Amino acid sequence: VSIHPDWNKGKAISDMLIGVFFEDINYAADGGLYAELIQNRDFEYRPSDKEDRDPSWNAKKAWNADGLTFTIDSVRPIHKNNAPYAKLEVNRVGGRLINEGFGGIVLKKGENYLFSAKVRSSTAGRVKVRLVNEQGDVLAEGVSENANKEWKTLKLTLSAIENSSNARLELIPQKAGRWDLDMISLFPEKTFKGHGLREDLAQAIADLKPKFVRFPGGCVAHGDGINNIYRWENTIGPWEERKPLRNLWGYHQTMGLGYFEYFQFCEDIGAEPVPVVAAGVPCQNSAHHGCDIGGQQGGIPMEHMDEYVQSILNLIEYANGAINTPYGKKRAEAGHPEPFGLKYLGIGNEDLITDIFEERFRLIYNAVKAKYPDIILIGTVGPFNEGTDYVEGWKLADQMKLEIVDEHYYQTPGWYLNNQHFYDSYDRKGAKVYLGEYAAHIPGRHNNLETALSEALHLINVERNADVVHMTSYAPLLAKDGYTQWNPDLIYFNNTEVKPTVGYEVQKLFGQNSGTKYYPLAISGAFDVRKLAASLVADQDNFILKVVNLHPIEADVDLTWIKHAEVEKTVLSGDLDDKTVKPVSSISEVPSKLAPYSLTILKFKK
Ligand code: AHR
Repeated sequence: VSIHPDWNKGKAISDMLIGVFFEDINYAADGGLYAELIQNRDFEYRPSDKEDRDPSWNAKKAWNADGLTFTIDSVRPIHKNNAPYAKLEVNRVGGRLINEGFGGIVLKKGENYLFSAKVRSSTAGRVKVRLVNEQGDVLAEGVSENANKEWKTLKLTLSAIENSSNARLELIPQKAGRWDLDMISLFPEKTFKGHGLREDLAQAIADLKPKFVRFPGGCVAHGDGINNIYRWENTIGPWEERKPLRNLWGYHQTMGLGYFEYFQFCEDIGAEPVPVVAAGVPCQNSAHHGCDIGGQQGGIPMEHMDEYVQSILNLIEYANGAINTPYGKKRAEAGHPEPFGLKYLGIGNEDLITDIFEERFRLIYNAVKAKYPDIILIGTVGPFNEGTDYVEGWKLADQMKLEIVDEHYYQTPGWYLNNQHFYDSYDRKGAKVYLGEYAAHIPGRHNNLETALSEALHLINVERNADVVHMTSYAPLLAKDGYTQWNPDLIYFNNTEVKPTVGYEVQKLFGQNSGTKYYPLAISGAFDVRKLAASLVADQDNFILKVVNLHPIEADVDLTWIKHAEVEKTVLSGDLDDKTVKPVSSISEVPSKLAPYSLTILKFKK
């Protein structure tokens, strides 16, 4: 095989190509990236949080009591947005309120854990707080200061004397009487950059070197039904002021991981924030619960759209406004007086492109453009292979001269093989593409080398078209073992481990080897032309050549135009069904062979 660049035809390409798609699906937020160890800290779980209205999903979910009376009350709550709280009647000291965490609490010997709770007590006593393992051994313990007759925050630092993967929290009021407790929280002292996210998971995302983070979805952004639309303003401020929401993937969102935390995470990993707000319509424009295409269609009633549009303008002010603006002030109060520098905003997610959608989308788009002309607005065209919304979405994008639209598709490896020219014919004068959700799916199987190489193949073809494709993000990003609604995902995890997939390795290799200039390549001599693809990009200092060989055999390759004695070489190869293979890097001569079923990356100085 010969691969030769055409140095005269270099073109500028997007410097935003590889990003991440974060959606609270598969317990990605509570019990996942958000480092809170207490499940249902706000006593807000409801049967309706679950698709099948599971009665065990009530305000006591994940809590238990022993030796005291535990009920739920909501009289004189800490805040109206979080009314239910735990009411304890203690007759005899020694009774306990117990939380099991998200399938157990993980403790690391020698590490500190920060406990806090809002407490109100008729007896102004103290609370003993313990972390206890399965055998009943106390692994950490402390006693709070006195509670008051009015709500007061009690805090403690607990140090674990042993490891445990299945500890529980116990609260033991130290005086008889009535006790009210809410927002009972336990965080590891060590979180990512000290900002409340689980260190190992956040680091795995940071290692992708994503240029942007899209949040909070996906379908979570538009919800299933008008009342389930994700409203950013309900997710900021003190925890008790945030409004929890049923997650349409069948669980509960505390909103502890809210817009402030998302913006801060983006800043912490050097990625552009790309929030996506609903276009005034929920999933499938379905007015009521459930993404029911056949159901009653509707969006936010037009008489309420002014308020909704204002809320989106407020979001931009929250991210970028001066601290003397109402929402800039809220950001400063949360601890970030500097603006977050929001540049992108998505409007809508895979919506049905109907009149209901269009009327609301135009209203939002025009209002944002009028007030914030520099914000880049991303429209939505949905999955190109499902119905007419892709076509209709693109028509609307052309009519409105949108800057970028969000495309989604999940396809088989065969589709990626046979659609390598998908973007070649896209109109360079039209809207740019944000490929906001994609992945290679083999029905019934997880991410393996075959799907990962298909994604690499697609990204090679996207790099060739990165004058029209501006951004891409694999979806979904995270999935917790045993709590997964969607497969495959990029990073699996449980309470103790992070398990990146082969697809993750591909995303990382592309994220860490991106460029801003693309050089076309003449490729000849492949046994099957579809099975050998390559791209050549340049960053400021280096050229980076990526080659995918999907043949089952080694290929001879002529790269004699690379005159360097040594290059940085990274190879990902193995059996197609391998789910654990890792890339191998070395300093090497310019190779003359490409491994079977491989992605090879060569990096060399300009
Ligand atoms: O990525 C999972 C889901 O797929 C997203 O929530 C939705 O936008 C798409 O249908």
